[in-house]
Amino acid sequence: MNIENKQFFQDEQLIRVVPAERYEMKPDEQHYITKELTKVKLDDDIGEIWTYPALHLFHGKISEKIVKDVIEHCTNTNNDDASGKLVANIEGPQSYLDADHPLMKEFVDIMMRSACIFVDQCMMTNPSWEQAQPRRIEIQEIWDVKMKPGDYNPLHIHGTKAMQGLSSICYLKVPDGLHQAEEEGVMNPKYNYAAKIDGWLKFLWGIPDHYKFDEFACPTGTHILPKVGDYYIFPKSLNHEVYPFRDNEDRWSVQINFNCWEEGKDGNEY
Ligand SMILES: [Fe+2]
Repeated sequence: MNIENKQFFQDEQLIRVVPAERYEMKPDEQHYITKELTKVKLDDDIGEIWTYPALHLFHGKISEKIVKDVIEHCTNTNNDDASGKLVANIEGPQSYLDADHPLMKEFVDIMMRSACIFVDQCMMTNPSWEQAQPRRIEIQEIWDVKMKPGDYNPLHIHGTKAMQGLSSICYLKVPDGLHQAEEEGVMNPKYNYAAKIDGWLKFLWGIPDHYKFDEFACPTGTHILPKVGDYYIFPKSLNHEVYPFRDNEDRWSVQINFNCWEEGKDGNEY
């Protein structure tokens, strides 16, 4: 790694380091991934910076055609039968969907394939899984959430029948105002407020926001701007919430909980 403009000043007993310009990471020579952490080699063999992983998050995108198919199925399945079992008090309906319906086939195929890739990658990077048996991935449930303006979803986690499980979210409809707030910001008086995260998804894997007050701490959360077709797969135990929004349009998403059964092992069920 080369750090340009590196300077040291001796000031009584203190050595101050002037921050260098941001440097570009070159994977082949500057860092490598181990099963436990990322290590960045420093100049002059003085040592390494070790950074421990905090989160596995899969990001993918489905095609416009698949979005259209899933929206059609969600439009036809509007019975609100999932509302009573979910944490959020949402005005819009939340319905269990039919994973075997022809309109859902391509979507479900992509989500299943992505979940398998996610599990494979996690098994490769998690040393405690070295001895683990192959996993059998199945969809436990799939449902939609049709949020209306003012709806929100408080901080929560998901549950699965299997001890190990994954969850996912995919966006079908996103109000234009969410993107306008991001793009126009203070240039538009309508969005002249500090945190333009109305309707965003927040993932949280540590004490909220403590890192803002400690420049050496690592982030403990991230905000996701929903985009039509984007999907995310994450551990079921990952805390997440959705902020309310003001708009004239609804915000539609479809969720899946996956069981990740360990083949040939008893007791991997809750
Ligand atoms: Fe959720």
